[in-house]
Amino acid sequence: MTSKWFNQHISKELAALEESSLFRRIPAVENGADKELIFNGRKLLNLASNDYLGLAHSQQLCETSILAIREYGTGAAASRLVTGNFKLYEDLEREFSAFKEQDDSMLFSSGYAANLAILDSLADRHTVVFSDKLNHASIIDGIKMSGAKHVRYRHNDIDHLKKRLEYFANIPSKILITDTIFSMDGDLAHIEQIAQLCTDFDVLFIVDEAHAEGVFGAGKGLCFERKISEMVDLHMGAFSKAFGSLGGMVAGSSDLISFLRNKGRSFIFSTALPPAVVGANLAALRLVSSDPSRGERVLEISRDLKIFLESEGFDCGNSGSQIIPVVLGENSLALKAQAFLVDEGIYVAAIRPPTVPVNTARLRLSLRADLTSQDLDKIMRSFVLLRREILS
Ligand SMILES: Cc1ncc(COP(=O)(O)O)c(C=O)c1O
Repeated sequence: MTSKWFNQHISKELAALEESSLFRRIPAVENGADKELIFNGRKLLNLASNDYLGLAHSQQLCETSILAIREYGTGAAASRLVTGNFKLYEDLEREFSAFKEQDDSMLFSSGYAANLAILDSLADRHTVVFSDKLNHASIIDGIKMSGAKHVRYRHNDIDHLKKRLEYFANIPSKILITDTIFSMDGDLAHIEQIAQLCTDFDVLFIVDEAHAEGVFGAGKGLCFERKISEMVDLHMGAFSKAFGSLGGMVAGSSDLISFLRNKGRSFIFSTALPPAVVGANLAALRLVSSDPSRGERVLEISRDLKIFLESEGFDCGNSGSQIIPVVLGENSLALKAQAFLVDEGIYVAAIRPPTVPVNTARLRLSLRADLTSQDLDKIMRSFVLLRREILS
């Protein structure tokens, strides 16, 4: 490194990360989107991916993706506003709008890029953005980029949110954005109450359904399940989770979507997704809309597993979805528990700060619809052993 200051700064930071068990290494995982992944040469049951419906390896997605490559090639080669547009994109957006019962929708390169574009284009330094304390990092980054006033309310605390709304009631430009399923806790936002508050306080209401689409509300998301969809201004979601592919999707009124097409910097200044990905998205959307049973199954087995884990004394927080945290506390304990489960043939993610608050390091189990009853027995047996061998 040419700079002495950076040389010392970086060595010091890396040593501090190592010392606090926070140094991140990309795990030696192969086939990470399959039900069984390969870790250090061993086949393990995969409870770490967000492929909740087991679609990433489905024949329909793979074949549609290959067809798209044959027809359109491998890369989009430009932003969609230049020459990077294909009929497939328009088919996807049209079908997605109908699926979500919205006027229009728009595809982004990722869920992360979608949240950046939404917040950066709609908010500015005159805007107040109300955001749940546990919202995803892409929301926080979007608010930062916009220069808006970031007003965080305590996680799922409606009274606290109401006080914040009252305090800023006279500001005209107000946005509220919330995950509907929180990605590290698997709990559900109190969206009915939030929607009502947004109406009462004249606030633009945006939901991030990244972990709910494909699973809740016949695949349409939690807002559909709770029948408050029409109270939401923008429905953001991602093809990278239950849909087994990649890309962010935003649905809403024609004007709001036109606004994003004109102002969303992560859309305007970035090459469009490759046709192969868009083909897979279209196949996934058609699968989910014609048969929502996978989402129902993953929720059913998640409910049963959570009840079992709690009966064994594990702290699974308020999870009400296919994401089940097992909160252990110390970082080193989470890593030890992860290693123990690897020995038992199961791969789970050990999540540590800063992704989750200090002293709440955890295992994050993400369940998938294609788990069999034998798989579930194996998971339950392993957690019984984990409690006995490591945690007692
Ligand atoms: C709630 C939420 N929103 C947005 C994103 C970003 O989506 P993507 O991974 O497609 O960029 C994630 C990703 O983990 C997420 O959990």
